[in-house]
Amino acid sequence: MQDKPAITTFPIQEALQKRWSPRAFDSRPLTKEEIVSMFEAARWAMSGYNDQPWRFIVAQQGDEHYDKAFSCVGAWNKQWTQSAPLLGFIIADETSPTSGEHNYAATFEAGIAAGFLVVQAEHLGLRCHLFGGIHRDEIRKAFNVPEKHNIVCGFVCGHHGELQQIPESFHEEEGAPRTRKPLSEIVFGKTWQTAYL
Ligand SMILES: Cc1cc2nc3c(=O)[nH]c(=O)nc-3n(C[C@H](O)[C@H](O)[C@H](O)COP(=O)(O)O)c2cc1C
Repeated sequence: MQDKPAITTFPIQEALQKRWSPRAFDSRPLTKEEIVSMFEAARWAMSGYNDQPWRFIVAQQGDEHYDKAFSCVGAWNKQWTQSAPLLGFIIADETSPTSGEHNYAATFEAGIAAGFLVVQAEHLGLRCHLFGGIHRDEIRKAFNVPEKHNIVCGFVCGHHGELQQIPESFHEEEGAPRTRKPLSEIVFGKTWQTAYL
């Protein structure tokens, strides 16, 4: 399994440091326990009023509805997502059950839950890769997702695989270093122009 740990300026928790988004996955199916463990982690994310707006559609290769789910993946992402055993879509219920009003933070909260899921996967020795290139209208229709829900993005999970599992055009990026903006560009203090860290 290829590791590309984050080169951090300060130590961080191991699963966060090791997590990255590979495209080469092993076709080995995930166990029920692994799948439950990831969604259990997602379920314990925080949300305003504890509204829990995150929803997931999931299909494992071999499931009757897997092909239907895979057909909703964008053409470019289809090239590599076919190697992963578990495919899913992350969805946010944008109507608060508490207030009945639009929940401006629903997608943000679904993102927190997705983050928990990905970190739990890493803890289990698995990897995930989120992707925005999906056909939202097709997902809504095929899975009967209510209009008021925001279909945010797709994701795949599995054991990390070998490069041969994906087209050669992806190989270089798979080995490329991971980069991030420095803290000075994202954390501010006195003014928007003043770095805090
Ligand atoms: C909302 C979202 C959409 C993304 N869309 C795609 C995509 O369509 N295709 C893809 O290959 N990766 C996609 N990615 C993965 C990012 O490219 C990746 O997370 C980023 O380059 C940082 O790399 P790292 O996750 O390995 O640290 C997406 C990630 C997120 C969170």
